[in-house]
Amino acid sequence: MSTAPPVVTIDGPAASGKSSIARLVARRLGFTYVNTGNMYRAMTWAVINAGVDPHSADAVRAAAAGVVLESPVVEGRTQVCVAGHTLTDAELNSDSVNKAVSLIARVAEVRERLVADQRALIAIGPLVMEGRDIGSVVFPDSPHKIYVDASEEVRASRRSAQGHADQVAERDRMDKQRKASPLVIPEGAKVIDNSHITLEQAVEQVIAALKL
Ligand code: CDP
Ligand code: CDP
Repeated sequence: MSTAPPVVTIDGPAASGKSSIARLVARRLGFTYVNTGNMYRAMTWAVINAGVDPHSADAVRAAAAGVVLESPVVEGRTQVCVAGHTLTDAELNSDSVNKAVSLIARVAEVRERLVADQRALIAIGPLVMEGRDIGSVVFPDSPHKIYVDASEEVRASRRSAQGHADQVAERDRMDKQRKASPLVIPEGAKVIDNSHITLEQAVEQVIAALKL
């Protein structure tokens, strides 16, 4: 029998509610919350700050290899630090990062590096980890897989209510069509559509689906 700490994996498209649900589920369970999108966003912030064209996979690959990224745990959740600087929410969710992040995330070498970092976080203990490929690639053997969905209209309106300019449909298209670990419903995942339920109801459905 495996003695590794449990990992609840939560995947889904942009603005589906993953982060809010994962944070609350982690709090309920006393697990550490890991937002892997912020790791891709931090890498994107570093690459574009270095003046690199996000469309050039070769330039992204070279620049990303030199980025020092860390994920310290603060108050039950991981932060993202680039070369010792803890990124703010404004930096992580800026228009320029929103526009470029799916271009950076499609580069296989960037993914390999971040997936290795994500797997290493198990040393912290039990995790709730959310992203796009957590149940399919990062922790495919986890028996605790959730896929959170919501309609395109609901997701676009939730993101604009947050005050961010974000082309969620365009990002989803790229995330689903890329060659390297595209967004899919992982095998064995419980699908929870939260288009028309509250955050609290979605959290209850996740907790009820888990066999921890
Ligand atoms: O919060 P939102 O759903 O808008 O996005 P996010 O979770 O912060 O992820 C930002 C971007 O990072 C996604 O659009 C993907 O391109 C990429 N990503 C990924 O490729 N794999 C992950 N495990 C997490 C995010
Ligand atoms: O992490 P992801 O981009 O998938 O979504 P999020 O940032 O957790 O959620 C986007 C917005 O939708 C947040 O302001 C949530 O509070 C809101 N939301 C909601 O109103 N009802 C839900 N059932 C889920 C999320």
